[in-house]
Amino acid sequence: MDYPLQLTVNGIPVKRIVEPQVRLLDFLREDLGLTGAKEGCGTGDCGACTVLIDGDPHHSCLTLAVEAEGAAVTTVEGLVSDDRLNEVQSAFVSAGATQCGICTPGFVVMATAYLRDNPNPTDDELRMGIAGNLCRCTGYETIVTALHSVIDGKVERIEVAPEPLELVPEPEGE
Ligand code: FES
Ligand code: FES
Repeated sequence: MDYPLQLTVNGIPVKRIVEPQVRLLDFLREDLGLTGAKEGCGTGDCGACTVLIDGDPHHSCLTLAVEAEGAAVTTVEGLVSDDRLNEVQSAFVSAGATQCGICTPGFVVMATAYLRDNPNPTDDELRMGIAGNLCRCTGYETIVTALHSVIDGKVERIEVAPEPLELVPEPEGE
């Protein structure tokens, strides 16, 4: 039976009819066109699919879209504000903390939430805070360097071209 889902995604109210077994990851990527969250493992082990639900990080591969009913979901795309990348995104760019980039959105979303709640972690605490995110390219050192630059207040948010965040329109008849 189809489910009439209502939620907010990156600040945009969304109404869609979904099948109850659809994962939030697929709903975001395929129904809404937000391809930032990635599927690394699909089993809750890698963190590449991390999104915020009401501010808390969740694996969107293990979350049904219907579980986000009424919630505010934030993806990596939604971290941009005032035409600037957020501090973690900017730090990743400046430090070159990406290789293939599959893990990057998950790291960025997770680290944004972690540093919001723990603004002054030790190096060990920081590494534990992002331990649930795996990088197959093993690029952890530049990631940690990037996050230390956020902690040290050394990051200038990078300006990006003004671009309204658009979702795939609601299908006709829904
Ligand atoms: S794809 Fe969700 S945790 Fe790996
Ligand atoms: S940059 Fe390739 S998985 Fe992390």
